[in-house]
Amino acid sequence: MSGESRSPTSRPDGPGDRDESHTGGPAAPDRNFDDGDLVLLVDRKNRSYLRRLEAGEFFHSHSGLVPWDDLLDRPEGSEVRSAGGTRFQAFRPTLSDFVVKMKRGAQVIYPKDLGPMLLLADIAPGHRVLESGLGSGALSLALLRAGAEVFGYEIRHDFARRATKNVQEFLGPEALARYHVSERDCYEGIDVEELDRVALDLPEPWRVAPHAADRLRPGGLLIAYTPSVIQATRLRESLESGPWALAATVEVLQRTWHIAGEAVRPDHRMVAHTGFLTHARRLPA
Ligand SMILES: C[S@@+](CC[C@H](N)C(=O)[O-])C[C@H]1O[C@@H](n2cnc3c(N)ncnc32)[C@H](O)[C@@H]1O
Repeated sequence: MSGESRSPTSRPDGPGDRDESHTGGPAAPDRNFDDGDLVLLVDRKNRSYLRRLEAGEFFHSHSGLVPWDDLLDRPEGSEVRSAGGTRFQAFRPTLSDFVVKMKRGAQVIYPKDLGPMLLLADIAPGHRVLESGLGSGALSLALLRAGAEVFGYEIRHDFARRATKNVQEFLGPEALARYHVSERDCYEGIDVEELDRVALDLPEPWRVAPHAADRLRPGGLLIAYTPSVIQATRLRESLESGPWALAATVEVLQRTWHIAGEAVRPDHRMVAHTGFLTHARRLPA
């Protein structure tokens, strides 16, 4: 499948003017809860549950049933109670909420790295992006939400399906129309022309770098997520022998803070390591 590249859209002025064609559409509707909406229910202990609102049905909580009808036509932030008295606040999930809670096959890239990846690769509406592999579709979701046209190469049928399903669940049909998934081995080559970006999360990204160089326009960007620094080093070596400039590798550390009155300190626990982000720009031939 192939698609036309799209022109950038201007920022909308207000809710009434909201242009959903490049924003993952239904993720931020300006209306109250309705049947079929994704809902994030958060209890007093900050435990959260991602479900789909089903009119006439119930959310089954640890302390009894919550009728979904109690949420119908109410705004985000509304509170509902289970039969056992537990209170939940209801919100639409953000992209980060969804990525952390969605069904997955392969290990996902977490929001901590997804956000920086979008800016390091300078993803913009209309960009033609080759992404491989797709895994559970976390990076696909971020790229599509940023307005890109994504050509996804995934070697495994089950992961290709899972990624597609997750995109459909969260972003809906508009984004799905910009998501062109092929079940194929990215090490064997790329047959999409005029790419603006290549985004990789597979074991040997250095085997894709020469194919990326063939298909990226001058100035185009490659970005790769690698859990190990040995992979990052190997990729950097391969970039040195190709038409690449401005190569760099970054690790993103995120530390949350406990803030409660006078007790203000970093949280005791943090995610010590996820991966390395390596990026570079394509030189003219
Ligand atoms: C860690 S997962 C990707 C996770 C994904 N970035 C996400 O955020 O959900 C790695 C994926 O690369 C795929 N893969 C591995 N080698 C590949 C290849 N040569 N061509 C295409 N996909 C490949 C695997 O099947 C797997 O789905």
